[in-house]
Amino acid sequence: MLTCHNVIKDFGGVRALAGVTITVHEGEIVGLVGPNGSGKSTLINNITGLTVPTAGGIQFLGQEIAGNPPHRINHMGIARTYQIPRPFSTMTVRENVEISALFGMTQGISQKEAKQQAIEWLDFTGLSSYANLPVTKLNLHQRKFLELSRALATKPSLLLLDEVMAGLNPSEIDESVKMIRKVHSSGVTIVIVEHLMRVVTSLSTRMVVLDQGRVIAEGLPETVMKDPLVVGAYLGKDYA
Ligand SMILES: Nc1ncnc2c1ncn2[C@@H]1O[C@H](COP(=O)(O)OP(=O)(O)OP(=O)(O)O)[C@@H](O)[C@H]1O
Ligand SMILES: [Mg+2]
Repeated sequence: MLTCHNVIKDFGGVRALAGVTITVHEGEIVGLVGPNGSGKSTLINNITGLTVPTAGGIQFLGQEIAGNPPHRINHMGIARTYQIPRPFSTMTVRENVEISALFGMTQGISQKEAKQQAIEWLDFTGLSSYANLPVTKLNLHQRKFLELSRALATKPSLLLLDEVMAGLNPSEIDESVKMIRKVHSSGVTIVIVEHLMRVVTSLSTRMVVLDQGRVIAEGLPETVMKDPLVVGAYLGKDYA
């Protein structure tokens, strides 16, 4: 479904991605992990068009997408959430989702249809009762679910989640895990970036580990987490 070929991303003198090659197959939940600064968000930003790779290629459903603008990539079926939620803070919860529905995969729908779809997505994520409130009334957990509702409203086939559980309490994390499984069951392929290892290993069908902009391991969660390179990347080389 998605293939990144030898993707390199430089920021001035910093090489954030040093030749990343990964493939995501339809139906997977791929856990993308790695220490702070290893390049996870940068990879997501390159896939979604927020930044352009310095070199390398990214194919989605057989088409080259590297360097395309974010809205075009979104229209092709890739949506993402941001590590820090970015709602339109002067709008209501429903209006935020409505905007996404209007500009997502099903372009050309009416405002009325977009409103209806927004109501349905808020129902899906359990935020219906907040629909008419300003987004400023939502707590962090609800804001993260709003992010998710906005991403889903663009009708993606591939969803990239960047740390949707950071800062949540244990019961909110459990709810988020259930929600991600529900989204996956609805037919969406998922790439999840997450620091909570217990969560990401239980959710992922496959894991990819980045360290200093390179893939250092990939495979089944239980195998990957025992890999000496991965243990070394997280705990320091002495532990490996
Ligand atoms: N816009 C930017 N300008 C300069 N350097 C950047 C920029 N974005 C990322 N970097 C650098 O690229 C490297 C990878 O950063 P990135 O945010 O992708 O890491 P990450 O794996 O998402 O980390 P975290 O787990 O902390 O979110 C880091 O060294 C970071 O400082
Ligand atoms: Mg990040």
